[in-house]
Amino acid sequence: MSDLAIFGGDPLRVEPFPEWPRTTDPILDKISFTLQNDTWGVGSNVINEFNVRFAEFHDAKYSISVHSGTSALWVALKAAGVKAGDEVIIPGYTFIATASAVILANAVPVFADINLNTGNIDPAEVASLITKKTQAIIPVHVAGAPADMDALLSISEKYGIPIIEDAAQAHGAEWNGTKVGALGLGGIFSFQTSKNMTAGEGGAVVSNNSDFMESCFSYHNCGRVKNGKWYEHHRLGSNLRMSALNAAVLIPQLDTLATDTSLRERNRGMLDTSLSELPGFKPMVPAGKSRSANHLYICRYDAAEYDGISRETFFKVMQAEGIFTYRGYSPLYHEPLFIINPDEYPWLDGRDYQALELPNTERFANQEAVWLKQTYLLGNDEDTKDIIRTFEKVTSAMQKEPKKFLELKFN
Ligand SMILES: Cc1ncc(COP(=O)(O)O)c(C=O)c1O
Repeated sequence: MSDLAIFGGDPLRVEPFPEWPRTTDPILDKISFTLQNDTWGVGSNVINEFNVRFAEFHDAKYSISVHSGTSALWVALKAAGVKAGDEVIIPGYTFIATASAVILANAVPVFADINLNTGNIDPAEVASLITKKTQAIIPVHVAGAPADMDALLSISEKYGIPIIEDAAQAHGAEWNGTKVGALGLGGIFSFQTSKNMTAGEGGAVVSNNSDFMESCFSYHNCGRVKNGKWYEHHRLGSNLRMSALNAAVLIPQLDTLATDTSLRERNRGMLDTSLSELPGFKPMVPAGKSRSANHLYICRYDAAEYDGISRETFFKVMQAEGIFTYRGYSPLYHEPLFIINPDEYPWLDGRDYQALELPNTERFANQEAVWLKQTYLLGNDEDTKDIIRTFEKVTSAMQKEPKKFLELKFN
C-alpha cells in the first residue's frame, strides 16, 4: 500500500507521453511552398487542394474549410435551413460548441439522453423529442466513436429532418465501411490543437449535396455566391474562411492519419482487453459496424465495486502515479450558459434547462466516465502497458484497503 505515490511511494510513470501537435518535414515544406507560391488566402490553390483531398479522404463529394469546428457547425446549420426559433436535437453529453452553434443560429437546442454503453446520443430519445419545429438533428461522434447512424438516418428519413454529423473528433472514423461526415445531409470536423488532425485551429464541412454546399460556401464567405461579384451579398454570412497556411499544415497529415489511426486502434484494443478484467471498469461498446477514430479513450467506472471510493479519488491516486485520468464533460444543459437570460436570448425564453434531467447523461458525466488524453493513445506498447499497470496497481490497492482511500481528503 505504502508503495502508492499518493501515500509517499514512487510514481509508476515519470516519462512523458508523445508530444502533440507534431511538426514534420512535409509540414514545414508545405508551409514554405505556400508562403512562396500561393495567395495565402482567397483564391488559394493550397486551400482548394485541401478541400479536394479532405472530401476524398472522407468519402464525400465536397468539402469546404473554415476557421473552426464551431463555425463549421453554424455554417452547416444555416445551410440546412435552420431558422430563428427552430429546434435542433443534440446530445446532452458533448462539447459546448454543439449547443452554442445552435444558439448562434438563433435556434433552440433540445437535449437528448445518451446510450450508456456507447456514450453517444440515443436514437430512441431523438425520436421522442421530434416536434413540428425540429429542423435538424446533430449526432456527435464522441471521442471519435460513431453514433448509431443506421437508426438516426432512418429517423431522419421518416420525419424528413436533416442530420448534421458533429464529427469534430472523428477524423477517419467509419460507419459500415464508409467514412463519417457525409452520411446524412452533411457533417463537420475540427482541426483545433488537440484533434487527431490539427492546424492549431480550423474546421471543415463535408457533404455529397451540391445545393447544401453552395449554401455553406455563401455562409462561410460573407454571403457571396459562387460566380457572383465580390461585392454582392445574398445571405447573412461571415468571413469564416480558412487561411492557406492552415491548409498547408493539414495536407501532409492526410498521409499520416491512417498510421496514427491504426496505432490508436491497437492501443485502445490493449486497454479494452486489460481494463475489462478489472472489477468495476467497462470499456465503451462500439455502435453497429463502426470504426472509431479513437480520439480519446473513455471507459466507465463503478464505485460500488470499490466500497464507494469516488471516481474523483481514483483520479487523484492515478495522477500521483503519473497517469492523468479525468472526468471530461459535464451535462451540458446544466452549464451556466443555460440559465437563460431572456433579454439576450429571447427565443429561449421559458426553456428551463436547469430542470432538465437526462439520467444516462448525468450518471455517465457525474459518476462513471473516465477519460484518458488523446496523446496516451499514440504511445508504443510499453507506454500503453504503463497505463494498464497503473490501473492495476491503483485498483488492487483500492480493493485491499478501501478505508485508506475513503479517508483521503483533497482540496
Ligand atoms: C464534439 C465537438 N464539437 C465541436 C467542436 C468545436 O470545434 P472547434 O474547437 O474547432 O471550434 C469540438 C472541439 O473542440 C468538439 O469536440
